[in-house]
Amino acid sequence: MPAMKDYEPMMSFGEDIAEMYRDALRGDEGAAVAFLEQLADRGPALELAIGTGRIALPLAARGVHVDGVDISPAMIAQLRAKPGGDEISVTVGDFADVPVPGHYRLIFVVWNTLFNLLTQEDQVRCFENVAAHLTENGSFVVEAYVPAFLYRLRNDQYVEAEAIQVNEVRLDVLRHDMATQMIEESHVSLSAAGVRLNPVVQRYAWPSEIDLMARIAGLRLKQRWGGWNRERFDSTSSIHISVYGR
Ligand SMILES: C[S@@+](CC[C@H](N)C(=O)[O-])C[C@H]1O[C@@H](n2cnc3c(N)ncnc32)[C@H](O)[C@@H]1O
Repeated sequence: MPAMKDYEPMMSFGEDIAEMYRDALRGDEGAAVAFLEQLADRGPALELAIGTGRIALPLAARGVHVDGVDISPAMIAQLRAKPGGDEISVTVGDFADVPVPGHYRLIFVVWNTLFNLLTQEDQVRCFENVAAHLTENGSFVVEAYVPAFLYRLRNDQYVEAEAIQVNEVRLDVLRHDMATQMIEESHVSLSAAGVRLNPVVQRYAWPSEIDLMARIAGLRLKQRWGGWNRERFDSTSSIHISVYGR
């Protein structure tokens, strides 16, 4: 199955979506920021795919010097519009390249965003470039989902009702290809205004594959948790927080 013909990652992070992400919170931001602050040891820190600053802004507010990389001018514009957003240096580019000078005590990529790199080669390249920008005792933190939920899908796909209102129905449509480790998804809005699509494609990886990417880049797994509050990682964990270093 070819993954969504004509898809470009930028389609997932245009102006409409950036506005939606502006105030999107998951509820575990406080714990995530405390976890990262401890590893950053005042920094400098670099967030790959910084987005609208959900994590970077509160981390910077705690005295950690934070820089960012992101590919979407619309997401960066939302970051800039927030208090403190002007003080963060953001490089526009592909985070697989880690297109920044210098070395960081902490580099992190959260909210499954590693999987927005659509090939294994790009994901490995990301690890190699991260390793080149980490200080000797620096940490690379990856937060991602555990793909176990895919085992429970019927026919490797689902359609989920996200909202059913009198004037709008929103559906989440997803299909999985085990052979390519690709997930194609679209959030579909149906209303009198018409049909709106929000496509997104991911290449997922199991934690074990991510650990091997780290080893290819000369890094090793130092810690793995099931959540930002250092919950135990076990077979019931839906996400993992993995910390890599030399
Ligand atoms: C789900 S948002 C997460 C934003 C932020 N890290 C957070 O946790 O709120 C994903 C972000 O990844 C960025 N992105 C996706 N692919 C990228 C790439 N190849 N290089 C740089 N940024 C990318 C998008 O523009 C978007 O801002």
